Amino acid sequence: MEISVNHDSIESIQEALSAWFATDKRALPWRKPPHRGDAYAVLVSEVMLQQTRVETVVPYFEAWMERWPTVEALAAATEDDVLDAWQGLGFYQRARRLHEAAKRIVEDHGGQVPSSKEELEALPGVGAYTSAAVRSFAFGDAVPAVDGNTARVWARMVGERVDISKARVKREAARSLAPLVEGEGGHLVEALIELGAMVCTPRDPSCSECPLVEACQAYKEGRCQEIPVPRSTGTIPEIEVVALLVKDPSGRVLLRRRPRGGLLGGLWGLPMVEREDAEPLDAAADRCIPGFEVEVEEGALGSVEHVFSHKRWRVQVHRARAVDGAFAVGSKEEGWAWCAWSKREGFASSALDGKVFDAVGEASLTLEA
Ligand code: ADE
Repeated sequence: MEISVNHDSIESIQEALSAWFATDKRALPWRKPPHRGDAYAVLVSEVMLQQTRVETVVPYFEAWMERWPTVEALAAATEDDVLDAWQGLGFYQRARRLHEAAKRIVEDHGGQVPSSKEELEALPGVGAYTSAAVRSFAFGDAVPAVDGNTARVWARMVGERVDISKARVKREAARSLAPLVEGEGGHLVEALIELGAMVCTPRDPSCSECPLVEACQAYKEGRCQEIPVPRSTGTIPEIEVVALLVKDPSGRVLLRRRPRGGLLGGLWGLPMVEREDAEPLDAAADRCIPGFEVEVEEGALGSVEHVFSHKRWRVQVHRARAVDGAFAVGSKEEGWAWCAWSKREGFASSALDGKVFDAVGEASLTLEA
């Protein structure tokens, strides 16, 4: 699938896109000194932007760069601090991989973010998109970085009803867009992303403001609304989850750190497990705190819904206590902690855990231990 731009018109299209970007781009922090062109800042911002909205990312990016202004500083951080700073951005695996990538850059590349595709893509969490963004924005080696925005711009330019969530379609877009950005530094690569975000939007694109209308097949055919096709979604399973609110005599709440490598790994929350089909509540409660017998109250204190990419959780929070006096769970290093309610923000946790904490509410904590 080729964009319908011949050699004579490619320059005028590049000029139009370039002029539009120069005047209409948003003043985002990674586009300004001292971050602009800094490969580490590009890596941080693009990893943050992978699955999170620009408005959400901006304050996190600024705080991150203030705290860890260099790749060496990030490499020297603890994982707890990294997860803590990521709290609220979701998809925590990205934070762990970015941290790991920083350590590798220091150990294997003398602290310099590498500039080749092969070396970049050997870093944890760096795929075709992020590598193209780093090469384009930091090293001036213009290669299309095809996220959902750029893919939508391209799908409309070629006028094909494609599903842009597919990796194969994104690869095709990168190949087909290469001549449009070639030899132009990296700014046209970012201009395509910006155009998708601001003008060539999923619904009601602003075609009258678009610098690419002349090269847009969907516009010519009046088919912008039907391109690209909506992502085909299968239904995702809904899973019941049991979470326990356990307090010690001084009113502190028992928190559990999820095992690394699993869903929300490394993050703290109330002890919780997915309930197996028809599993009795007390059996699920026992699994929440392995090695102890748990007495659990039947009625739930609260309920929370949370949607992951592949499943939906319905979390029911129940009060519980140890049958034999107290839970002598292990140490913080072993993933267990008794936490005063007011100190819970000191434990890195996910958006889901935040919702669970809210559902429990401070009021319930005044109930008898
Ligand atoms: N989304 C992904 N990368 C981006 C960037 N550099 N600017 C704005 N939005 C983006």
